[in-house]
Amino acid sequence: MATPHISAAPGEFADTVLLPGDPLRAEHIARTHLDGARQVTAVRNALGFTGSFKGMPVSVLGTGMGIPSASLYCNELVTEYDVTRLVRVGSCGALQDHVAIRDVILAAGACTDSQVNRARYDGLDFAAIADFGLLRAASDAAAAHGIAVHVGNVHSADLFYDPRESLVATMSGMGVLGIEMEAAGIYGVAAEHGVRALAVLTVSDHLLTGEQTSSDERQSTFGEMVTIALEGLVIDA
Ligand code: HPA
Repeated sequence: MATPHISAAPGEFADTVLLPGDPLRAEHIARTHLDGARQVTAVRNALGFTGSFKGMPVSVLGTGMGIPSASLYCNELVTEYDVTRLVRVGSCGALQDHVAIRDVILAAGACTDSQVNRARYDGLDFAAIADFGLLRAASDAAAAHGIAVHVGNVHSADLFYDPRESLVATMSGMGVLGIEMEAAGIYGVAAEHGVRALAVLTVSDHLLTGEQTSSDERQSTFGEMVTIALEGLVIDA
């Protein structure tokens, strides 16, 4: 049955869904990386498509920005469309000197200032982590393509424009690799419902140096990252 935010019919989503924040990225991924992709939902312009990659059924859905938006789509995918593998593909800001613009980060864990996982975990600190099988498969896929990845913690921020001046130093000092706005929420949904999740991120800007990628660079590195994510999913399947 359609949900409040997804109009696809039952069975129109594959059990594996790539999750970019930007719905137009979802369309681009579907058209350039999937075979036989067709649109299955467009409620509020959150575009969703289903096709296949190397014979493996895959869907892609734009989640919008931030934990609340990403979480509600993931929740509905899992509870109403029987999705079992949630893979965010997105961008992040780098928080370490050894992480460069255009690098790929596999988010083994996701810290956050959001309260969503405390709500799920009786007010305590839940360690929001990636599924190890998905993480290992993505790492293997990257190695097979000769693409170096960083594996570690990211921070999923509630505020893009955070006024706390010490925050970047705190995150960097704790070894957090990058900052984005969805992974901890997606990992929380996955834990709550017993499904598997991973976030694969490209570095679009650097919070220590102020560097930024051009939109052309973002497009090509994004494509490389989607390939890693899809090849990893084939290895894991
Ligand atoms: N903050 C949050 N999300 C981001 C950033 C950032 O600085 N850069 C890319 N995604």
